[in-house]
Amino acid sequence: MSSKLNRRGFMAAAGATGVAASLITADASHAAAVQNANRRVIVGVMGTGGRGTGLASAFARLPNVEVSVVCDVDAARVGRASAAVAKVTGRPGPRAVEDFRRILDDKAVDLLVVATCNHWHAPAAILACAAGKHVYVEKPCSYNPREGELLVQAARKHRRNVQMGNQRRSYAGVIRAMDELRNGAIGRVYMAQSWYQSNRGPTGRGKPADVPKGLNYALWQGPAPHRPFRDNYLHYKWHWFWHWGNGELGNNGIHIIDLCRWGLGVDYPTRVVSSGGRYRFDDDQETPDSHVVSFEFEGRKQITWEGFSCSRQIARPYHALFHGERGTMTLSDTSYAFFDPAGKETRREKVQSGDTPHFNNLLAAIRNNERLNSEILEGHKSTLLCHLGNIAHRTGRTIRCNSKDGTILNDKEAAALWTREYQKGFEPRV
Ligand SMILES: NC(=O)c1ccc[n+]([C@@H]2O[C@H](COP(=O)([O-])OP(=O)(O)OC[C@H]3O[C@@H](n4cnc5c(N)ncnc54)[C@H](O)[C@@H]3O)[C@@H](O)[C@H]2O)c1
Repeated sequence: MSSKLNRRGFMAAAGATGVAASLITADASHAAAVQNANRRVIVGVMGTGGRGTGLASAFARLPNVEVSVVCDVDAARVGRASAAVAKVTGRPGPRAVEDFRRILDDKAVDLLVVATCNHWHAPAAILACAAGKHVYVEKPCSYNPREGELLVQAARKHRRNVQMGNQRRSYAGVIRAMDELRNGAIGRVYMAQSWYQSNRGPTGRGKPADVPKGLNYALWQGPAPHRPFRDNYLHYKWHWFWHWGNGELGNNGIHIIDLCRWGLGVDYPTRVVSSGGRYRFDDDQETPDSHVVSFEFEGRKQITWEGFSCSRQIARPYHALFHGERGTMTLSDTSYAFFDPAGKETRREKVQSGDTPHFNNLLAAIRNNERLNSEILEGHKSTLLCHLGNIAHRTGRTIRCNSKDGTILNDKEAAALWTREYQKGFEPRV
């Protein structure tokens, strides 16, 4: 039967009875949904350090997903990532490229995974949206507040699904915990405390050095105004230099601050205060290793975050503590628990960790328009809190913000850190 006939038959049936028509429509849309649900999604991965390689392997394991290309400016790393994917699939590894614009040129690629250093996250994600790609962008989704705003605009303008790598938004146990908070399990929630602990070593004193063989340092720097190479910038240590990184607050604080914001039901702060510094070691590191930040919101609510990058001696068994008018709730990657006002535990529920649900959620949004668990506007709002905490730290002043969009009020020096200078030719634009 030709498709024309098919359509005629369908129209006749539709004319005969409305019920039949709606059944046929429902059937057809179900069939289309099933077909979409199985649609092959082609993925390119940019940045193949520990995280990017993990993401490439994880996406390659998912049904009807092909990681067709991996990219890094470090030739050794991209080769290793391609081999890691080959090990997962049992087939030859994906194509390895140095310049991510080759991924953007590749019409077959549906999704760009951005797992580079933070200063590349938003500029690359914005270009990817313009090239028609959906994006999984690692946290923090931007290097500064303006980039976050532009990324949201790019997602809207090009109608792309952009999801940040705050994977706890897709843990079923965390979603249940947040629902319970919202349904009043501890009454009105007014405060959330959060922290991060680690046992990091020194960043050291760097010295000028030759760029290692196989590393395209100019492309690694990309949008950040270019600086001569020193031997304690990369890999990974860029997190601790303001020129590229966002300190521990933007590195690990973001994960839990995002959950605090979700649990409290708040968006943009009114006041941000920071104290701390590079206390544990005396070296080149610019970002604090000991950091206390607080964010106040309208409606008598507050989030606090404490970062202990170099002390996990008394590791606390959970990451966040929500205070409500009728009790408290703790939250970790393995459980959440309720306590009565006297501090007695009344109930504990399991949380299962694992990133796969977050990836599957993005794939379902791409294939079937399902709602993203961490749509980029939410990622931006949580990332912005980290930027504001760092701006308060760098200026040494309390930051006052417009509660409608987080913009900084009455402080020119702080407001100047909303954006940065860019290396010519790499300015992000929407
Ligand atoms: N969601 C999570 O749980 C999680 C966990 C770890 C890391 N991360 C995030 O992932 C990102 C990467 O972390 P990492 O530990 O792998 O860092 P890393 O510094 O070890 O790796 C970054 C890689 O990106 C590459 N890169 C830089 N510019 C590039 C460019 N223009 N094109 C291609 N490659 C480029 C670097 O050469 C390097 O190999 C960070 O932003 C981090 O915050 C997220």
